[in-house]
Amino acid sequence: MSGGPVGVALVGAGVISAEYLANLTAFPDVRVLAVADLDAERAEAAAERHGVPASGDPATVLAIPEVELVVNLTTPAAHAAVAFAALRAGKHVYGEKPLTLDPAEGRVLLAEAEERGLRIGNAPDTFLGAGLQSARRALQAGVIGAPVAATTVMQNPGPESWHPSPEFLFQLGAGPLYDIGPYYLTALTALLGPVARVAATGRRARSSRVIGSGPKAGTVFGVEVPTHVTALLDLESGPSVASTFSFDSPVRRIMVEITGTEGTLSVPDPNTFAGPLQVRGVKDEDWRDLPVTGTTVGRGLGVLEMARALRAGVPHRASGAVALHVLETMAAIADSAETGEFRTVASTAPVPPELPADWDPHARTLG
Ligand SMILES: NC(=O)c1ccc[n+]([C@@H]2O[C@H](COP(=O)([O-])OP(=O)(O)OC[C@H]3O[C@@H](n4cnc5c(N)ncnc54)[C@H](O)[C@@H]3O)[C@@H](O)[C@H]2O)c1
Repeated sequence: MSGGPVGVALVGAGVISAEYLANLTAFPDVRVLAVADLDAERAEAAAERHGVPASGDPATVLAIPEVELVVNLTTPAAHAAVAFAALRAGKHVYGEKPLTLDPAEGRVLLAEAEERGLRIGNAPDTFLGAGLQSARRALQAGVIGAPVAATTVMQNPGPESWHPSPEFLFQLGAGPLYDIGPYYLTALTALLGPVARVAATGRRARSSRVIGSGPKAGTVFGVEVPTHVTALLDLESGPSVASTFSFDSPVRRIMVEITGTEGTLSVPDPNTFAGPLQVRGVKDEDWRDLPVTGTTVGRGLGVLEMARALRAGVPHRASGAVALHVLETMAAIADSAETGEFRTVASTAPVPPELPADWDPHARTLG
């Protein structure tokens, strides 16, 4: 396909598809042509709600020639199979996190895409939002001097109270490390560069949980992964990071602080696209607000940026390489938590270039 908006199909019409569909159908540079799901009725309902012309099972949707890019919003255990099927149908793929369940599968996926001359993009795309882009500009402007260390905390009671099908969030490919960790680890990579080695511990407060909403409310299900993970990370560029990822706390707390030679930057929640952004210099008595500029539109920005990059023939920012590095980091953390030993992270990742501050998702740039 040549110029014009990029034809997109979604595979997976669950909870998160609503945000993607709302945003992608409002971007002039992409055209959402179809929605697929194993549950055909769910796909049809989502397509109807958002004025998408076609729906069906994944194979039917992958056979549509005008679909150039498949957005894979299935649950983690299906990410690889859906992505490979899309590549084999000649489509580029943008997937939800994590890239795949394990790094070996992720490496094969990226290699197959490259062989076929196709691209892999991956969530999270929150680092394209105003909050994290502004944090990056502040770091580059030297507001904290040279970065030395960072602390990140993500703790809450877990998603089973609000997600109607939360079982997958406590299985391989999720838990707080794999489900929420990608936001923090991608933000660290985008702000400070890739991870070199890790050490970690992991615990599980309860071996079962209870679904809190929807038709399955009251159902008890098993917890298969650690639900409280604490990690130490050495970054390639020098800073050391202490990170907590927990679904075991009744207290909700989110913190990302980067400390440098001249002060500390308080970075917005990396699971969001907006601010606030604050700095506290070594002589300051309190935090000072910093300007936050850029887009706060939400999930789907990575798909749009990838679509535009595809047409321009330049690398896209929410890349498979970053997602693979984040996945390798999470696997190293999980391994360290089991063995009690430091683990090196074999891969590195290209730090995605900054987005221009006036980058406009609603502009028509592709004819
Ligand atoms: N729910 C959130 O708030 C949220 C936020 C950000 C990212 N995500 C990510 O988005 C992905 C989906 O999460 P969700 O909450 O929407 O899950 P969900 O369970 O609500 O929906 C997943 C959908 O995928 C479909 N599906 C599963 N395997 C499939 C296959 N092989 N082919 C076609 N369809 C298939 C299911 O039928 C279901 O409709 C996950 O990777 C998750 O980490 C979710």
